[in-house]
Amino acid sequence: MTHHGLFISFEGIDGAGKSTHIAGLAEAFRAEGRSVTLTREPGGTALAEQLRGLVLEQAMDPLTEALLIFAARRDHLLRVIAPALLRGDVVLCDRFTDATFAYQGAGRGFDVQVLATLERWVQSDEGLLGDPAGNQPMKPEVDSVIEPHLTVWFDLPPETAALRLADARLPDRFESQPLAFFSRVAEGYAQRQRGHPERFARIDAAQPRERVWQAVRQVFVEKGWLQAAPLP
Ligand code: TYD
Repeated sequence: MTHHGLFISFEGIDGAGKSTHIAGLAEAFRAEGRSVTLTREPGGTALAEQLRGLVLEQAMDPLTEALLIFAARRDHLLRVIAPALLRGDVVLCDRFTDATFAYQGAGRGFDVQVLATLERWVQSDEGLLGDPAGNQPMKPEVDSVIEPHLTVWFDLPPETAALRLADARLPDRFESQPLAFFSRVAEGYAQRQRGHPERFARIDAAQPRERVWQAVRQVFVEKGWLQAAPLP
């Protein structure tokens, strides 16, 4: 799929504090005249948001969970992400497939080979040019897999995240997991970074919020995607 858009995902364990920075980036890109699609996973379409509700609230086995997350991702890619990239938008996506490897793979212990197979099927860019209503047959061959150009990883020790989450609203199925789960998820993200060092930007999320924001902004300035802030 040839396009002029930018696809950026944001990752980290629950409590890592990505939301305000994603909103800040949307504002920064818009201030420079870019059109921004702000979205999240699981979710981003009516169907995917319904699937999100199920995944976050209902007990289910790990394969069902992985399949629902990838089903939501397929709908999201077809209806929102691929069209936005074709329009040339900056797509800012709160979590994407690295979360599946970290949470379902490392956290739940689900087979990562199966996740990798689902990733290839779901993110095949050939099928993404198809019709979201499913009236066009998908090509069975997978040419290439659509993935973010950049993944901003908010790295925070699980103990610190747990303290931050302690005051949060009613926890969902993931937020209510024990510390050991988040230690595995954090290690899952670290592994993903080791596997894709060119795509990942690690941010030390334990710093004060303003410092985290400066670090995030700097990544985009260094890529040439945002202008450097004017000196005060
Ligand atoms: P999150 O993105 O943290 O949203 P909020 O800020 O509203 O809590 O919540 C989504 C949850 O879903 C989070 O706990 C991680 C989980 N998740 C997975 O387990 N696998 C995935 O592939 C994705 C995208 C999310």
